[in-house]
Amino acid sequence: MNDGPVTVVAVESRKLSCLTPVRMFRPERRHVTLLVNLTRVTRSPLRMYRGVKLGRLAIRCEAFQKLSEVAPFLALVGRPRTIVEIGAGMGGMLAAFCAAATEDATIVCVDLEGGPFGGGRSDAQLRSRANARPLQKLHLVRGDSLDPAIRERTAALTPNGVDVLFIDGDHSYDGVSGDFCMYSPLVVPGGIVGLHDILTHSLVPGCEVDRLWGSLSGSKREIVAPRELLDGGTWGGIGVLEVPSADH
Ligand SMILES: C[S@@+](CC[C@H](N)C(=O)[O-])C[C@H]1O[C@@H](n2cnc3c(N)ncnc32)[C@H](O)[C@@H]1O
Repeated sequence: MNDGPVTVVAVESRKLSCLTPVRMFRPERRHVTLLVNLTRVTRSPLRMYRGVKLGRLAIRCEAFQKLSEVAPFLALVGRPRTIVEIGAGMGGMLAAFCAAATEDATIVCVDLEGGPFGGGRSDAQLRSRANARPLQKLHLVRGDSLDPAIRERTAALTPNGVDVLFIDGDHSYDGVSGDFCMYSPLVVPGGIVGLHDILTHSLVPGCEVDRLWGSLSGSKREIVAPRELLDGGTWGGIGVLEVPSADH
């Protein structure tokens, strides 16, 4: 006589236990942006996973980046053999670049010690943060990237060209335009140029990468999380220019 109600109670509790994980997983907007941005650069779950892992490393090492932008960017760069970064900051991206690159890669980081837009680590601190592998060649080039001698030194250190150029140094219009004009010719066909801070920076008026980015033509890709606000404004965004490969 009591069989009916007992059965109903059992079904209800099973339903509840099935729904619990769904209720507990409440994705935040930044998680959704991360996933959307990842799927825009690759369909490979392995590459996505690697990008997130490297992006987390960068941010742990104080990169001035958002995970939802930097993880897809690192998923996109893959395993480069030669990387040039302009602007070391705290060395966060440098750490991720060394981890991303091949075992025997050449990584050149050009930085003006104590320069504008966030300089602040000594050579020893940057080297320790970069944690380059035994066969990797890590060169820290100290000085103004706009100095032709610094550009020549960088070119001499990368005689076979550059697979990935990441420009994140002087963010003024003249600074970032100069870096782009001087260093992008070093990038090999099929390589990429990344520019950080392509979104209009609402808190730092001197940050004018958006002006340069808007004026560039070619195969452009934007990895942005515009809704991740900073005190009510925007910042960040990575612009990627793909240098056409020889067979194009
Ligand atoms: C925003 S930080 C770089 C952050 C770093 N890319 C990261 O995300 O881990 C900018 C860096 O550019 C450097 N910088 C500014 N002007 C420069 C110049 N003219 N030449 C070389 N480095 C410069 C600053 O010293 C600072 O270390």
